[in-house]
Amino acid sequence: MLTSGGSAASVDAFVAAREAAGNPERPSVYMSDQSHSAQARAAVIVGIRREGIRMVATDGEYCLDMKALARAVAEDRAAGFQPMAICANAGASSTGAIDPLQEMADFCEAEDIWLHVDAAYGGFAALTRDGARLLAGIERADSIGLDPHKWLFQPYEVGCLLVKDASKLEDVFAFGTTVLQDTIWGANHPNINDRGLQLSRSFRALKIWMSIQTFGMSAFRRAVSKGMELSKRAEAYVQESRTLELLTPASLGIVCMRVNPAGAGLKDETLEEINREVLARLFWDDLAFVSSTSLHGTFSLRLCIINHSTSWNDVRETLEAVERFGEEAVAA
Ligand SMILES: Cc1ncc(COP(=O)(O)O)c(C=O)c1O
Repeated sequence: MLTSGGSAASVDAFVAAREAAGNPERPSVYMSDQSHSAQARAAVIVGIRREGIRMVATDGEYCLDMKALARAVAEDRAAGFQPMAICANAGASSTGAIDPLQEMADFCEAEDIWLHVDAAYGGFAALTRDGARLLAGIERADSIGLDPHKWLFQPYEVGCLLVKDASKLEDVFAFGTTVLQDTIWGANHPNINDRGLQLSRSFRALKIWMSIQTFGMSAFRRAVSKGMELSKRAEAYVQESRTLELLTPASLGIVCMRVNPAGAGLKDETLEEINREVLARLFWDDLAFVSSTSLHGTFSLRLCIINHSTSWNDVRETLEAVERFGEEAVAA
């Protein structure tokens, strides 16, 4: 089902998950401390109280820690919560981290909990052989949120919700409407309004269909693949640099780093100031749009290579500018 974006897809998924769990009195949901705020917001919208929204710790690679998840679920069950959904990241926004999808699917099966995968950013990596390998297990999810307006290069807005069993959506969203009784109500096609929040909607499928017809699926596959390759080259460049420090390795199309000249012995606070300045200069120079993030409290520059026209020259020039601005900021 096409939606306005990944946030809306999560809301519809959590509504279905709540119904599938039997509309528990004290529901709880689980996500990692790297999950996009859209997940917690979706949980609030479907009526989960703040104490029922559990942010599970992540490991050194920013992937959800299975032991911490199992502990949280067991503690909550003992305290009278009814776990309703577990949300996995397939490409966390900050780092591109992919949670242990197979283990999470095993856990959800054993515990009878709905598995939602937030693949808004990373899902389209599945078009490539490497990406499909990295995302193995995603097919076991009860629901998957995807954003064609991210790595399928579509203009805003188009998100997508895939649900393993569409009747789980219909169980909760299908109402029937008297003023629509004259339409051929789902007679020869699924009635999308029976599967989610939105009734009147734009023809989001058209742009996806047309661009795939025009360019061919292989063009999309190549473009995603190129983003992944460039992020690996960026990682290698950062590792070679004496000015830059790699904070997270390339995952899908994301690399996190900061200016931290080898041997300078600069404190985190100073490094944050320096890196903020570098970010501002990149922005004003209009060279590239690099963003920042916070990795368990550490300020980080974040390269997310998601534009199909980005070349290695663009990435290299950006990294050179980061080094140059960084060296100037350190010297100042
Ligand atoms: C991992 C992830 N999940 C969810 C969202 C929210 O998606 P949207 O902005 O399409 O609602 C985003 C980014 O916007 C994201 O990167």
